[in-house]
Amino acid sequence: MPNIKLNLEYSGVTEKEILKYEQKVLKIYDNLVEKSKDENEFVGWLKLPSNYDRKEFERIKKAAKRIRKNSQVFIVIGIGGSYLGARAVIESLTSNFANLMPDDIRKAPQIFFVGNSISPNYVNELIDCIGDKDVSINVISKSGTTTEPAIAFRIFREYLESKYGTEEASKRIYVTTDKNKGALKQLADEEEYETFIIPDNVGGRFSVLTPVGLLPIAVAGLNIDKLIEGAKNGEYNFSDSSIKYNQCYKYAIARNILYEKDKEIEILANYEPKLHYFTEWWKQLFGESEGKDKKGIFPAGVDFTTDLHSMGQYIQDGTRNVFETVINIEKSKTDIKIKRDEDNIDGLNYLAGKTMDYVNKKAMQGTIEAHVEGEVPNIIINIKKLDEETMGELIYFFELACAISGNILGVNPFDQPGVETYKTNMFRLLGKPGYKKQ
Ligand code: PA5
Repeated sequence: MPNIKLNLEYSGVTEKEILKYEQKVLKIYDNLVEKSKDENEFVGWLKLPSNYDRKEFERIKKAAKRIRKNSQVFIVIGIGGSYLGARAVIESLTSNFANLMPDDIRKAPQIFFVGNSISPNYVNELIDCIGDKDVSINVISKSGTTTEPAIAFRIFREYLESKYGTEEASKRIYVTTDKNKGALKQLADEEEYETFIIPDNVGGRFSVLTPVGLLPIAVAGLNIDKLIEGAKNGEYNFSDSSIKYNQCYKYAIARNILYEKDKEIEILANYEPKLHYFTEWWKQLFGESEGKDKKGIFPAGVDFTTDLHSMGQYIQDGTRNVFETVINIEKSKTDIKIKRDEDNIDGLNYLAGKTMDYVNKKAMQGTIEAHVEGEVPNIIINIKKLDEETMGELIYFFELACAISGNILGVNPFDQPGVETYKTNMFRLLGKPGYKKQ
C-alpha cells in the first residue's frame, strides 16, 4: 500500500478527464523504462531504488560513520541538484533546531550548506560560526566546474589545509562527482580524496537518492536504508498500469489538465515548516524540467499557516491563474495539548483539550475550502507521516510525476538549456578566458 494518497476531490478534475490520458501516459512510462536501460539517457533514476550500487552504498555508510565520529561540523558544498535534495530530506526529518542543539543531544555534526550562493557574508559568517570545531567537507558537483561550489571549495579546502595540514585535510574532504570527467575529479584523484560517483544517467535534480544526497543524509544520522526502501516502494507502487490506482500518474495528468484550463502557476503548500526545503527541491525539479520552449507550469511554494498572512490574500483573490497542491502529513511526529486558562483573556478556552495539530488540520481544511471557493483548484497529497520511508516514496513520486508530466506537456524534462545564458554573460563580464567582451 502506498504511503501517499492523492485526493482530487477539490481539484475540479474528474476521473473521466484523467482516464482520457491513459494510453498516452502508459506509453510515456514504457518509453521511460526503455530509456532507463540506455546509459546515454538521463533516466537512470527510474530504476535506481531497486538497482543501485550496493558497494558504494556501504562505503557511504562507512564514511558517514567516520565523519560523525571525528567531526563536529560537516560542510556540504553544492548548488541546485547537487544541494537541494540533501537539505530537503535532512530538514524534513531532523529537528528544526538541530544545529543549535548540544552535540550530545543532536548526536551528529552540525550540518551547513555552502556554495549555493556567491555571498561573501555567508562564507565569512560560517567561518566565524565554526570557530575551533572539527570539520569535514563534502563537495558535490557533477560537472566539477560550477562556479559557486568551486569558489566555496577553494576557500574551505584552504581553510582545512591551514587548520589540519594537507595530509589530515585530505582525509576530511569527501568528493561527489562524475566518475571520469571534470576538474573536481582530477583534483580528487591527485589529492586522493575519498570519492563517490554521480551516475552518468542521473541528472542533478533527480540525484538525491545517489551519493549526492545519501552521504549528507547519512551524516545527519538518518537511515538511508529506509529512505531507499521507501523509494523502492514508490518504484513498485507507481508503476501500476491501472491509472485509476496510480496516484503518481493521476497527479501528473491532473496538473496538465489544470494547465490546459489556464492555471499556469502551481503552488506547493505545506503546513509543516520542516518541509520548506522539500518545497525548494520540488520547485527546482519541476521548474528546470518543464519550464522550456515557452511553456510550463510555474512552480511556486508557500509555508502555511505562515504565508497565509502574506500570500494568502493573493491566492484567495488575485489573478485566477493558480492552483495549489497541498501536502498533508496525516500524523504529526509530536503534538501539544492546549490547556485551559482560568482568566481566558486570549479567548482561547474554546480550544482547551484540543491539540496544536488538530488546530493546524482545521486551518488546512478551512483554507482549502476558502481557496476552492475563490476558484483555486486544490490537489491534496496525503502522506502518512514524516519518516525516511515516506520521504523516499514521496521523492520518487514527484520524480516520476515530473517526468510523466513533462512528456505530456511535450518538453524534454531532462535538459536545462536555459541555465547557460546567465553563465555566459557572467563569465564574459568576469573576463573568463574564452568569453569575449562584446
Ligand atoms: O539539476 C541540475 O542539473 C542543476 O541544478 C545542477 O545540479 C546544478 O547546476 C549543479 O551542477 P553541478 O552538479 O554540475 O555542479
